[in-house]
Amino acid sequence: MLGNFTFHNPTKLYFGEEALSNLSKELEHYGNKVMLVYGGGSIKRNGIYDAVKAELQKAGKEVVELGGVMPNPTIDKVREGIQLAKEEAVDLILAVGGGSTIDYCKAVAGSTYQDADPWEYYFCNWGEMNCRWIPVGCVLTMAGTGSEMDSCSVISNHHENRKKFYYFRNPDFSILNPTYTFTVPQYQTVAGIYDIMSHILEQYLSGNDDNTSDYIAEGLMRSLIVSSRQVLANPEDYEARSNIMWTATWALNGLIACGKPTDWMVHMLGQAVAAYTDATHGHTLSAVSGAYYRLLISRSKDAEKKFCRLAENVWGISSDGKAEKEIAVEGLDRMEDWMRELGLAMNITDCGADDSMLEGMADACPITESGYVVLTREDVIDVLRKSLK
Ligand code: NZQ
Ligand code: ZN
Repeated sequence: MLGNFTFHNPTKLYFGEEALSNLSKELEHYGNKVMLVYGGGSIKRNGIYDAVKAELQKAGKEVVELGGVMPNPTIDKVREGIQLAKEEAVDLILAVGGGSTIDYCKAVAGSTYQDADPWEYYFCNWGEMNCRWIPVGCVLTMAGTGSEMDSCSVISNHHENRKKFYYFRNPDFSILNPTYTFTVPQYQTVAGIYDIMSHILEQYLSGNDDNTSDYIAEGLMRSLIVSSRQVLANPEDYEARSNIMWTATWALNGLIACGKPTDWMVHMLGQAVAAYTDATHGHTLSAVSGAYYRLLISRSKDAEKKFCRLAENVWGISSDGKAEKEIAVEGLDRMEDWMRELGLAMNITDCGADDSMLEGMADACPITESGYVVLTREDVIDVLRKSLK
């Protein structure tokens, strides 16, 4: 553990099968008008909408609704939300959904009282959030992004083929009931699982010190792998769903980044793919990971060493009589077997990408500088090309 850091996570969490019963009491801390925000309607089919409405009613709140938040939420939709939040002078924004709905609510919460256009001001130029913030509460319905306990908001702009992020503020509270994730379709469930794995790896695959954060990361990955197989066998396995939900939250609430550098290049590549294809987040990450990780192992001794540790401690690879590189690659192969077992996209062609998009994707891909290798633009194109089918 070498670095200096501050750890502060202000989100209040309610976890478990009974978690929603805390909502009406929690709502006492906020004003009367609640903007209830959700996605394409899954919450109306699985009963979560009715349960949340009952709590809002119990708390005597006036409710303004905004539905139709799409996966990979767009800046156009954010502008619609800003207008409604302003017109109605809402006191709290309640996100009921997955990462897309929560990210969306953070963007609306931090932009309603900001005069400048949110896309230019926040997402393109990283302007400071110095305006009034509308408090945000979450009822999480899908595990993966960690948005329930972080400040990040990822928004897409289809006019410009860009998907960008900004750090607003953490949700003020989040309600995590694992049973709500029973109805998440398999394609989305595995996308969420790989998103969690990728968040952990983005923070694990960097640095060369002996760091408590890395030991925690290994534990989270091992739990995730076990639970992923259980949930594929039985989508209503409470133990598996609850472990996955909790792992997702801890994967990106700041803990495992403490005291170490982080990489995030897989996310930059995945976002660039999504900017052109609008593909599901977790699948864009799985589609580029193999080519990127092979580049890391081939270019950096530190990376080789860390992949070797990952292979032994997480993927159960025996090191007997093998060179470090061999162990590292065997671990990566084992991880890719697991990814195929889950049914993840293993190439960007399956995400809707083709050769003609590679240059544009490289333009949409920021290059991070704190991982084992700092890519050049040519490297980015090379990784993307190797990620085609
Ligand atoms: O639209 P609804 O009806 O809600 O349906 C959703 C959507 O179609 C469905 N779903 C969610 N809960 C369900 C359910 N279906 C049945 N039963 C349920 N209980 O699943 C689909 C995907 O939902 P979405 O919210 O898009 O998924 P996810 O949670 O993976 O969020 C993805 C977004 O989060 C961003 C991604 O880039 C993407 O835009 N990320 C946010 C991060 C953050 N805030 O820290 C970090 C991540 O790296 C990521 O970039
Ligand atoms: Zn992610």
